Amino acid sequence: MSSYVYLMNNLEKLKLQKVKEHIDSYIELVARGEKTIVEALNELLRLEIEYQEEKAISACVKVANFPFFKSLEEFDFNFQPTINKAVIRDLMTLRFLDKKENILFLGNPGVGKTHLAVSIGIEASKKRNSTYFITCHDLLSNLKKAQLENRLEVRLKHYAKYKLLIIDEIGYLPIMEDESNIFFQLINKRYEKNSTIITTNKEFSKWSEIFGDVVIANAILDRLLHHSTVIKITGRSYRLKDKIDERNEKK
Ligand SMILES: Nc1ncnc2c1ncn2[C@@H]1O[C@H](COP(=O)(O)OP(=O)(O)OP(=O)(O)O)[C@@H](O)[C@H]1O
Ligand SMILES: [Mg+2]
Repeated sequence: MSSYVYLMNNLEKLKLQKVKEHIDSYIELVARGEKTIVEALNELLRLEIEYQEEKAISACVKVANFPFFKSLEEFDFNFQPTINKAVIRDLMTLRFLDKKENILFLGNPGVGKTHLAVSIGIEASKKRNSTYFITCHDLLSNLKKAQLENRLEVRLKHYAKYKLLIIDEIGYLPIMEDESNIFFQLINKRYEKNSTIITTNKEFSKWSEIFGDVVIANAILDRLLHHSTVIKITGRSYRLKDKIDERNEKK
């Protein structure tokens, strides 16, 4: 085996894909005296490191289970003037994660709660914070199934561990009494340890209706709100934006 083939095989074995891709041109640059061997190695390794970091980031984003990929740049703040842009920008710095604070988005359908939660979530996972997105309904189904299989504690620990857990759509579907209990346990486990983002269409004063119990609803809210930012959005549904415009045009 020639020493070149041996080198290529070893790069393959070490999974240094970018080094392998670019090594030919660097061999030539070194041969022509345009780069020193140290410069060539440094540049090749930098290409490899950048590539591997990008791959790790996209793996983080992939496992987070986002329903769609939308960034803050795609959010039209002019359409939703009740949202304080500076507050959202501050949340995007992820300071809230270090402080173990929560974010609660409150508003009617289509005002952008999930969009904003996802944008922040993507940012968090890009910075390699373990992040997971799940609807409240799926979360509770999953935890209830675990309870039936006698592994609730393990599952609760699993969800409690995420640096950022996004629980979407609290309030759209009714929550049974045993589920309310399980939900409380999860929020209690995450309290002051990790950050949670909540989206809901129901005012906090109505949460006792969702959870079917004033005491449990208050206990959950107490923990969620203690260290938190509440973003209340009162505006039109973006989903109906064009429909409403069309209606006005017809008038
Ligand atoms: N201000 C906005 N600028 C750009 N796109 C927006 C804006 N608000 C909402 N959207 C888009 O409209 C759609 C609905 O928004 P989103 O899913 O965030 O609503 P929501 O508040 O979570 O509603 P629901 O309570 O029904 O789940 C999404 O495709 C989202 O990207
Ligand atoms: Mg939503």
